[in-house]
Amino acid sequence: MIEVEGLTKYYGPYPAIRDVTFRVEEGDVVAFLGPNGAGKTTTMRILTSFTAPTTGKASIAGFDVWDDPMNSRRHIGYLPETSPLYTDLTVRQHLKYGARLCRYPEDKVDERVDRVMDLCNLSDRADTLIHKLSKGYRQRVGLGMAIVHDPPVVILDEPTIGLDPKQVVETRRLIRELGKEHTVMLSTHILPEAQSIAQRVIIINEGSIIAEDTPDNLTAQIRRARSLRVRVKDTSPSVAGKLRDLAGVSGVRRTGEGGDGACYEVEMPVDGRDMRAEVAAFIVGNNWGLLEMTPIEMTLEDVFLRLTTEEEGAA
Ligand SMILES: Nc1ncnc2c1ncn2[C@@H]1O[C@H](COP(=O)(O)OP(=O)(O)OP(=O)(O)O)[C@@H](O)[C@H]1O
Ligand SMILES: [Mg+2]
Repeated sequence: MIEVEGLTKYYGPYPAIRDVTFRVEEGDVVAFLGPNGAGKTTTMRILTSFTAPTTGKASIAGFDVWDDPMNSRRHIGYLPETSPLYTDLTVRQHLKYGARLCRYPEDKVDERVDRVMDLCNLSDRADTLIHKLSKGYRQRVGLGMAIVHDPPVVILDEPTIGLDPKQVVETRRLIRELGKEHTVMLSTHILPEAQSIAQRVIIINEGSIIAEDTPDNLTAQIRRARSLRVRVKDTSPSVAGKLRDLAGVSGVRRTGEGGDGACYEVEMPVDGRDMRAEVAAFIVGNNWGLLEMTPIEMTLEDVFLRLTTEEEGAA
């Protein structure tokens, strides 16, 4: 549904994005995840034909965003980073205007606008002028504008920014709901957001895509570096050395001791082999008194930091 190939965009001498390539299939919900200045907005502005790429190609539903913007745009609902709204219209008027502008069937406009106001929690402000709305409510109107014409592809640039916590939860729920019938691409720098909404995450950093996978696989991808936290009764210093000598273990760190033994972080082999059973048997065999063994799982946050840090290290 969205195809992007080798997109590069220079602002002056600096590339905002470099050789960005990805695909979003019909019905997917994809999160574009990256820190400030990574190139998320730039990519989305190209997809919505607001900016021309320096090189590369992009298409929506088969229509090239630069050669055929009329057709590609007809398939898109877009929530820009800052929503340009006509502040002297009421919420209802604005959404009606949005629906008509995109040629939503005239006889169904009222019904659709009511539905969208309901979805975006705007019904209680239906007849309020937009200039009287708070920032969060304006954001909701922007989101409403992105979906009012029921487009097959919805592109949302940081859809939850500026919303209160309750509304953040509501909006994420709405996006998941939208994902059942639409192709959705949203940008975010909030990792749990990507994890909770999207089936697939594309991580962008300094203009380049550095990883792309399901939230779970991204975590698994560097599970190699996973560690085990073990607690044993025996507090003698020789335990660490013996654990370290166990074939496959790539490192051991003593992380503390309390009333009930000593705690260690045992690094698993770089090949990703699961050594939990071996480590447990080894500890039991040595009679150290195994009290606790927990894998230290990496969150997407850890994955992200690791990937971006590695990139920086390589540069
Ligand atoms: N109109 C512009 N002129 C010059 N440089 C720009 C322009 N727009 C963006 N940039 C630069 O391009 C890079 C990518 O910016 P972009 O807005 O795409 O990042 P982003 O991932 O959306 O960040 P944020 O999370 O802060 O919204 C940044 O270095 C930015 O300074
Ligand atoms: Mg941005």
